[in-house]
Amino acid sequence: MEFKNLIYEKEEGIVRITLNRPKALNALNAELISELNVLFDALAADDGVRVVLLTGAGDKAFVAGADISELAHMDSFSARIFADAGQSMMAKIALLPMPVIAVVNGFALGGGCELALACDFIYASEKAMFGLPEETLGLIPGFGGTQRLARRVGAAMAMELIFTAKRIKAEEAKALGLVNRVLPPEQLMEEAQKTAATIAAMGPAAIALAKAAVHRGIEVDLISGSYMEKEAFGLCFASPDAKEGTSAFLEKRKAVFSKT
Ligand code: HXC
Repeated sequence: MEFKNLIYEKEEGIVRITLNRPKALNALNAELISELNVLFDALAADDGVRVVLLTGAGDKAFVAGADISELAHMDSFSARIFADAGQSMMAKIALLPMPVIAVVNGFALGGGCELALACDFIYASEKAMFGLPEETLGLIPGFGGTQRLARRVGAAMAMELIFTAKRIKAEEAKALGLVNRVLPPEQLMEEAQKTAATIAAMGPAAIALAKAAVHRGIEVDLISGSYMEKEAFGLCFASPDAKEGTSAFLEKRKAVFSKT
């Protein structure tokens, strides 16, 4: 697939998306958001994709936020449309059947931090910096940041980070539960690829069902979430992978799961 502002690569079921506007530190303009919207729709329909890695071009930034040169010309109406396009695009990530890992190679600020938060989990370079600096622009986060950050790190910590526009290093972000792993820059993509390969070897139906159970379940009470989990557990048996996985264990061999 060809895009103007991002690079799409696919190898052995693992897709790498590189946000590619390095001169603007990969800032999210309307065109890039629209391309991501199109790409996520295509991924939802591609049963050959096991895992997606999302990263930024260059060695400086993952994404330095929404494109401020576009924000500068907005009014209330166009700003809401812009926020809506970004929110819809980011909401698609949780609905994709395959895991999406944010590989944060540098600045993840504003909309960039929000994009990373919308992914299933984050691996970060030691050089990465996270923050929501919108208040310094007289704005607030608009791509789900007030919601996802509060759910991830708690309301009080989210409010301190938003109100102060403070930037935090990867290690601090990890201590807050924002980031799963912090790695030296030269090992970041390699380690993310290894994790992606581990996930890609599992049964795709069971991965999709686990992802949906976590994302849907976290929004509801424990009893309702557990009910959804039980239904998803039952659905695992609609795939031959459940029979293959359990038989392989009993026969003391490695399971070979289906490709779709
Ligand atoms: C447009 C940006 C940009 C952005 C950087 N650039 N961030 N352009 N939008 N968000 C451009 C700069 O203008 C500059 O272009 C080039 O990228 C390099 O940036 P520098 O500032 O020269 O680099 P440096 O001094 O290293 O500082 C890096 C930085 C800083 C700390 C990341 O660029 C910065 O603070 N950026 C803005 C971060 C921010 O406020 N993000 C939140 C945006 S609001 P030129 O042409 O001069 O070389 C947001 C809202 C989301 O995200 C919700 C919307 C609904």
